[in-house]
Amino acid sequence: MTRTVVITGGGTGIGRAVAAAFASDGAAVVITGRRADVLDTAKAELGGDVRTVVCDSSDVEQVEALAASITGQVDVLVNNAGGNRDLERGQGGLGAAMPAAKPSSLHALAQAWRANLESNLISAVITTAALSERLATGGAVINIGSFAADRGAGSYGAAKAGMASWNIGLARELGARDITANVVVPGYIADTEFFRGRMSDEFHAARVAETMTKRAGCPDDIAGVVQFLASPAARQITGQVINVNGGALTTR
Ligand SMILES: NC(=O)c1ccc[n+]([C@@H]2O[C@H](COP(=O)([O-])OP(=O)(O)OC[C@H]3O[C@@H](n4cnc5c(N)ncnc54)[C@H](OP(=O)(O)O)[C@@H]3O)[C@@H](O)[C@H]2O)c1
Repeated sequence: MTRTVVITGGGTGIGRAVAAAFASDGAAVVITGRRADVLDTAKAELGGDVRTVVCDSSDVEQVEALAASITGQVDVLVNNAGGNRDLERGQGGLGAAMPAAKPSSLHALAQAWRANLESNLISAVITTAALSERLATGGAVINIGSFAADRGAGSYGAAKAGMASWNIGLARELGARDITANVVVPGYIADTEFFRGRMSDEFHAARVAETMTKRAGCPDDIAGVVQFLASPAARQITGQVINVNGGALTTR
């Protein structure tokens, strides 16, 4: 039977690679994002059964409209939309190597924190809640975290750490319905829009040097793990954080 797969932020980078993987498997894929032109280009290039929905994942009304536009059940939900809003504003935010600029006021500080929490955590929470009743038995929710959560990357890292914590309760709640919930945590992934053109040769080399594989990650590295977590082979894996970082950070 054709699976329905919803991928937030599916127009570029990691989300686009995830969409390509499921589309080539014959799934009915829904990709979302805030830019219609980016989604249209991705749809044209991906081929397969891909539908686009312009949706800001942190906006309740737009998320409700997304849910209303999907008929039938959702087999796989990939909460991938996000990014470091400090970078979007050109304010650093890449940890010790490129620290975020100090906000000019307490108000600006609160606003910067809310922006990253909304983009990376609340977006996943409300999208999952909006689609929860529609998630199919045997389905999977896969949240895209970040190794920034373990590196002290300000509000962005805190948002991604919060995602991993939230996922534990989500996995418990969905487990009774035979639905898994996991967090895939990328390390440094090149060939994405994540760095907003701020990735220097030196910074790239430093990020590669800290891996054991001596290469940058690529979107397909993440897509393969997402596909596995959505496969029959992974039904007993839930409530987990799965790192894909070339060994840059290790776990026991
Ligand atoms: N690249 C890395 O090194 C890296 C490392 C760790 C984690 N990650 C995580 O991986 C995920 C994918 O990022 P990426 O690296 O593939 O970067 P990317 O190319 O910038 O992809 C992010 C996608 O999310 C969409 N998006 C952002 N905010 C959104 C919102 N509020 N509502 C809907 N769509 C939104 C963007 O499209 P629009 O702008 O058109 O909305 C874009 O297509 C993110 O969650 C990021 O935090 C990336």
